[in-house]
Formats: sequence, C-alpha cells, structure tokens
Amino acid sequence: MQRLLAIESSCDETAACVMGMDGRVYSNIIASQIKTHALYGGVVPEIASRQHVEALPAVVARAVEQAGCTLQEIDYFACTYGPGLSGALLCGVNYAKGLSYALGKPLLGINHMEGHLMANHVSYPQLTPPYVCLLASGGHTMLLYVERFGQYHLLGETRDDAAGEAFDKAARALGLAYPGGPMIEKLAAEGNPKAYHFTRPRCENPLDFSFSGLKTAVINQIHNASQKGVELPVADLAASFRKAVVDCLVQNFQKAAEDFHCTTLVTAGGVSANSLLRSRLEALCGERGWKLYMPPKELCGDNAAMVGA
Ligand code: KG4
Ligand code: ZN
Repeated sequence: MQRLLAIESSCDETAACVMGMDGRVYSNIIASQIKTHALYGGVVPEIASRQHVEALPAVVARAVEQAGCTLQEIDYFACTYGPGLSGALLCGVNYAKGLSYALGKPLLGINHMEGHLMANHVSYPQLTPPYVCLLASGGHTMLLYVERFGQYHLLGETRDDAAGEAFDKAARALGLAYPGGPMIEKLAAEGNPKAYHFTRPRCENPLDFSFSGLKTAVINQIHNASQKGVELPVADLAASFRKAVVDCLVQNFQKAAEDFHCTTLVTAGGVSANSLLRSRLEALCGERGWKLYMPPKELCGDNAAMVGA
C-alpha cells in the first residue's frame, strides 16, 4: 500500500499525518500553539511562524514513527498551500518541499478549506457527492454545492467576519480567553439564550452571511452595562450570541438544501464543533429525513488527516 505524508500549518496548529492511499489514517499528530497565543488574546502571526519552524521536525518524525514506517517509505507528500497566514503556510510548504525534493517524491498542494470538507470523507468513507456543505472556520464561512470531488459551487459566503472570528471577537470583548468558540460554549451552557434579542442580519444574496453586526451588538451591550454600572449577565449574553450565530448558519444551510433539492448536508471547520449547531442540525435533518454528516469534534479543527484525504 502506498503512503502519503500530509502537513498542515496554516494557522496555529502544526500537524502531520501518514495515510494509506486507501484513506486509512496511520497517524495524526497535532501540536497546538493555542496556549501561547491565548496569552495575547488571539493568533500572533509572527509567533505562529516561529513555532511552526520549531515544531515541524518533531511532529513529522512522530507521525512517521507512529505509522510504523520511515520517511523513505513515503510515496507522496502533501501540504496546505492556502488560505491561511502566509508566514505560517510558508513553514509547512517549505518543509514539505524539502522532503519531496530530498526524497524524490511528488508534492501535492492542498487548499485548506477543501481539506476541512474532506475531514468528513476521513470519517465517513461511504459519503459521496452531491451534497451541500457548510464550511465554517476562523477565517471563512461558505455554503457550497459539492457536485463531485473537486467541483464546488459557492452559494453563499460571509460579507464581513467569519463565524469563528465572530465567536473569537465576541469572546475577547467579554474578557474570555482565545479561542472564543469553546469559551462561549462553556458560558452559554449556563445562560438564557432568550435574554437578548439580536437582529438577524440580511444580505442581498439570502445565502450570504454577515456576523460583524452581531459582534458589535455584543460589544454595545457590554458598554451599556459598564456605563450604567450594572453587572453584565455574561452567560445570558454568551447564550444569546451563540443562538444568533447558529440561527444564521442553520437558516441559510436549510435554504441552500431546499433551493438545490439536496437531501445530504455536510458541515466542516472549527465552528462545526459547536454543540448547539450540531444539535440544531440533527433536529432539522431528523425532521426532514435528510442525511447529515459532521466530522467528529477532533477533526473539526485544523489537522493533517483532512489534508491527506
Ligand atoms: O477550522 P479552524 O480550526 O481554523 C481555521 O481554519 O480558522 O477554526 C477555528 C475557529 C476559531 O474561530 C474557533 O473559535 C472556532 O473555530 N471554534 C468554535 C468552536 N470550536 C472552535 N466556534 C464555535 N463553537 C465551538 N465549539
Ligand atoms: Zn482551518
């Protein structure tokens, strides 16, 4: 069986995976930089690059060791070429180029968002297009009609902030740590999602998204409370904000499925780890008799298995 080694370094995770050409994952190593960036309230690109340079040799070595093979036994190399932080991407791309050149094996450049989508194919080999896909990460929010592998039709995207970015910025305003999505989830579990009503934004293309107004609405509530000197019900605010973001995502996803007569729905990206989003989609698809595929939570965020796939 031929083997592939994939590298991911587009943001704040240094990751490597060895995969058989049949899609079997032999190793999937992730070195997260979250603790470092949390000190600054968000990803610092220069620090991310430096940490990728430091982590790559060990992460690749561990991936190969855990797969029970050697670098010489790898038949193909793959790496994320974009989108992402350019310095961070350069680290992974150059490392992969070095391996490919030194060992005389081909190198495949992979789109990071296509990688996220493929996390579903790592977990569900039976899944085949056509389907509609909601890709929601820290940098992108897209609705795609996947006609077949490699053939994607962009139905809608964010006009401003990505969904994950909105979680991160709202969390920061609330004084929570980075990354914001999981922190808001924790707080939201104890809050009342009906305590605040945020106007749901509308876009000219009804399948587009806009999240910056929701983020501003949270910031305004924080300022109002501080000006009046009243204590902010932080959990209620987090719960209401999470509900607003999830409402927008689910509403457009449902519309895309209906418009394109598609009964298979697929989500991917860091935000698809959100428990409210997952339960709402489960309920919707259960009601309609639609098929729903969501990566297991550990494959929602950045990893190299999705790049390998
Ligand atoms: O896909 P990803 O790991 O990296 C990018 O390609 O951007 O996504 C990271 C984003 C962050 O903005 C993070 O706050 C968000 O995904 N995220 C979540 C959750 N877990 C991670 N957002 C909402 N709920 C979560 N449980
Ligand atoms: Zn990502």
